[in-house]
Amino acid sequence: MQNFPLTVKAREDFPLLKRKIHGHPLAYLDNAATTQKPNCVIDALVRFYENHNSNVSRGVYTLAEEATEIYEEGRESVAKFIGANDSGKIIFTRGTTESINLVAAAWAQPKLKTDERILVTEMEHHSNLVPWQMVAQKAGAELVYWPITPETGSSDGGRLDLQKLDELLADSVKRKRSFRLLAVSAVSNVLGTVNPIAEIIELAHARGVPVLVDAAQAVARMPIDVSGWDCDFLAFSGHKIYGPTGIGVLYAKNERLEEMLPFQGGGGMIRQVGRQTSTWADAPQKFEAGTPPVAEVSGLAAAIKYLRNFGMQEIQRHEYELTTHALKRFAEFEDLELYGPPETIERCGVVSFNLRNVHPHDVAQVLDESGIAVRAGHHCTQVLHKRFGIAASVRMSFGLYNEIPEIDRLFSALDQAREIFLK
Ligand SMILES: Cc1ncc(COP(=O)(O)O)c(C=O)c1O
Repeated sequence: MQNFPLTVKAREDFPLLKRKIHGHPLAYLDNAATTQKPNCVIDALVRFYENHNSNVSRGVYTLAEEATEIYEEGRESVAKFIGANDSGKIIFTRGTTESINLVAAAWAQPKLKTDERILVTEMEHHSNLVPWQMVAQKAGAELVYWPITPETGSSDGGRLDLQKLDELLADSVKRKRSFRLLAVSAVSNVLGTVNPIAEIIELAHARGVPVLVDAAQAVARMPIDVSGWDCDFLAFSGHKIYGPTGIGVLYAKNERLEEMLPFQGGGGMIRQVGRQTSTWADAPQKFEAGTPPVAEVSGLAAAIKYLRNFGMQEIQRHEYELTTHALKRFAEFEDLELYGPPETIERCGVVSFNLRNVHPHDVAQVLDESGIAVRAGHHCTQVLHKRFGIAASVRMSFGLYNEIPEIDRLFSALDQAREIFLK
């Protein structure tokens, strides 16, 4: 690809991409589910276990000090990566899902009153819906949906409308039923819509509503700036940014950290333990009970370093080109139903569709025969799929190693699905 030195270089760094599937080179187009791992991440995990393995913060011997340093340096590199001015605001979790559950249990649940509400959007992943349903049900509070714009084939379909948000917020003030929180994703894992997070937060804050940003998809695809955005909480997973599984991040600003009760009890999160009661360590340790994922943090730090070497803006540009190409190809076929904005503006490399009259699982299986890995299903967004009147869709999603010929292979392989299921 002429303009993409990035792809050519990146592909060599990922051993798994050398695999053949059913005799074809692997075209891995399921990066929204998880990304492949570069050698530097794999090496960081091996290096940790071969040289530094020990528990953190619990020993004064050399290995324990090294492990603690690796863990805390990982925290620093995450803070810098997302624009946080203090690594004390970074809590390590198992992933986006656990980060959001942490906020739900440790912050929202103790505060939520019966006459309050939580605002979510129709495009949220189940991880940013179900925890809010659970706390709302316990408190007898209400979950309110900010609808997406109708999918009429116009370039405005499948987006969040700021005017509508303003109306919802104004209505809540008028009815004296305040929103305890707005929980919104920065990027939809189905529509690929890039939401105007800075503007959303500004509007919500103007009405005194804190905002949690689900950055699970955004963080691998664009620069993140928690300080500039002034978000209250932000969650993401290491495995979606070319890092290991089992490691996630919750960012919380100071005001919110102070309001949060402990999440889980155990070692590492206490100051003093008495027979009946205990006192808590300061944040972030207060929210990190038990032995933390030290090796995974070293892998995450390696992934962040890898991404920073390319530059997030360069990665964003790369995905923009891939997405533009994919959307252009969609326009050639009348039997392909595209979900989400049909133009690249405010959109990124996650593209969901259906081949009319063919089940998405059948499509994905036929693509696999050609070595193309895509996801079929509801992608943990049943509310969104019901909104479109469908049960499932096929999703292709790009990473920094994907190239235009892989997208073209997908469109060619769709002919085989037409041949098998429609003729
Ligand atoms: C937007 C969004 N939020 C949350 C999640 C959950 O991430 P995890 O399973 O890593 O906790 C995902 C995963 O696909 C996602 O795409």
